[in-house]
Amino acid sequence: MTTTFPFTSALVTGASSGIGEAMAEVLGEAGIPTVVVARRSDRLQELADRFAHFEVLVADLGTAAGMAAVVARVGDSALPIDLVVNNAGFGTSGDFITLDPDRLAAEVHLNIEALTRISHAALAAMAPRGRGYLLNVSSVASFQPAPKLAVYAATKAYVTNLSESLHEEMRGTGVHVTALCPGLTRTEFQSVSNTDSYSSQYPTFAWLEAREVAEAALHDVAKGKALSVPGAIYKGMVTGSSMMPRRLARRLSGLVQR
Ligand SMILES: NC(=O)c1ccc[n+]([C@@H]2O[C@H](COP(=O)([O-])OP(=O)(O)OC[C@H]3O[C@@H](n4cnc5c(N)ncnc54)[C@H](OP(=O)(O)O)[C@@H]3O)[C@@H](O)[C@H]2O)c1
Repeated sequence: MTTTFPFTSALVTGASSGIGEAMAEVLGEAGIPTVVVARRSDRLQELADRFAHFEVLVADLGTAAGMAAVVARVGDSALPIDLVVNNAGFGTSGDFITLDPDRLAAEVHLNIEALTRISHAALAAMAPRGRGYLLNVSSVASFQPAPKLAVYAATKAYVTNLSESLHEEMRGTGVHVTALCPGLTRTEFQSVSNTDSYSSQYPTFAWLEAREVAEAALHDVAKGKALSVPGAIYKGMVTGSSMMPRRLARRLSGLVQR
């Protein structure tokens, strides 16, 4: 079934796998011209071969050149984009003091700095046009500390907080900002973040598919929601953790990671 969205063009970072790839597919099936961004050009080209009017932008957001290329494309007034999805991100699991500090710095750079710069470029381009949508991919991990995924959860707390602030700042301008907060989703995230053990640790019902996350998120973006939390189980979890004393949330989170 083809869905009608209010977007006329889109750009998705991290479109070569997982949630970003699923979002690009949903947008492609809806006939929306989409710029797909990531480092793996072959994966992006496969998407562009399947969907008309897709544009491949190979960029490493960990580099100044890659970031500049994406910022320039987002701000290009000759080819305006009215949905920007900051999805590229990764995590690193383990005891903080045992992890490679250079990798943690790269994680902070991608999850926070690249997302902030692209958000700025997107909103600066959209505000004068009086319409647009920015979707920042955060996580349910943003709502409480996450021992053994400490830096990741902290970066995502930033993403949710920034996006909710920007949602309010842009109120009444015709530009909408949404934070997507998925729970466990089967993607390459688990192998990249060293959390492959989660698949045996967490029951099947706790897992979301990338496609259902992408569909729920894009529908919430179209409605102009501030927060998108796909799946009933995770909606309940987010409500529960917001009512729980912080000390208890922290302890429980630590126990879950053991
Ligand atoms: N899976 C989960 O359980 C889960 C839960 C909550 C939130 N999230 C969030 O969802 C988002 C998407 O993750 P995913 O689960 O779909 O993981 P994934 O399958 O590993 O996808 C990550 C994407 O980010 C891209 N990327 C990584 N580093 C990049 C860089 N330096 N420059 C440009 N692109 C880069 C990757 O493409 P290349 O390698 O080709 O560059 C890939 O397309 C992330 O922000 C993640 O934190 C995931």
